[in-house]
Amino acid sequence: MENFVNLNELSTSEVQNLIDNALAFKNGTREPQKSEHMVANLFFENSTRTHSSFQVAELKMGWEQIMIDPQTSSTKKGESLSDTLKTLGALGIEYAVIRHSINDWYKPLIEEHSPLMPHLINAGDGNGQHPSQSLLDLVTIYEEFGHFDGLNVRIVGDLLHSRVARSNAEILQRLGANVTFSGPEEWYPADFDQYGSYVPLDEGLENLDIIMFLRVQHERIAEMDQADFSAVDYHHNFGLTKDRYDKLKDSAIIMHPAPVNRDVEIADALVEAPKSRIFKQMTNGVYARMAILDAVSNHE
Ligand code: CP
Repeated sequence: MENFVNLNELSTSEVQNLIDNALAFKNGTREPQKSEHMVANLFFENSTRTHSSFQVAELKMGWEQIMIDPQTSSTKKGESLSDTLKTLGALGIEYAVIRHSINDWYKPLIEEHSPLMPHLINAGDGNGQHPSQSLLDLVTIYEEFGHFDGLNVRIVGDLLHSRVARSNAEILQRLGANVTFSGPEEWYPADFDQYGSYVPLDEGLENLDIIMFLRVQHERIAEMDQADFSAVDYHHNFGLTKDRYDKLKDSAIIMHPAPVNRDVEIADALVEAPKSRIFKQMTNGVYARMAILDAVSNHE
């Protein structure tokens, strides 16, 4: 693939290949082919996991990397994203990993068909897609269960503002999982009905294989609604409490893209509980991103 911008634009076999490659890198059955590609990482929104794990993946693949800090770059002088990227292309940068608040930021750039444009890797666009997070979630689920077909997956929380929810709901449904959603009803986007159905959180917890909690995206919630937000009420109504944890099967796993608002989405004591795979997701993020770099650099 020339660019990696939306997991849902890939065929099922392409997605499975990425999962298999990520796990092969993890298990050591595949060694990275060291190459001298040059990549720039541009994060216009804050990040710890995605930014760091792309950096680690790039180093493991032997890539040369440069960091662009949007706060000190010429985007602050009004330079467009397109001109910034073509400038990097003119300097010899072949790949750009980008997180940006604008949904679908990559579409007009790809449509330019400029020979100067680096290959684009989407590290998150607005509340659109987060394909590398979605891939690492798939890797984590596949490593655990060995399949997706028939798994009961519940996605809980701030569905409206989450790019993780949309990316995962779409691909998990395509791969044969039974997806349901819970959380504040006012944060349930009506178009999610195409991927699954909304159910109260306490319904059917004992049948779930995977329960995936989402961060409350305070930075995307209007100030007026922020004033009404109570962390205690949210946790009581939509969070993972000890009672809810105990209702889950022993084989069920708990996921969260992180950062976690402890005692909001998940009780502090349960973030690292036996059923939690939250830190394993982060570890798998490096291997998922190695598989992405491998795929985009073998596009010829
Ligand atoms: N899960 C995730 O995208 O985390 P960061 O915002 O820290 O990259």
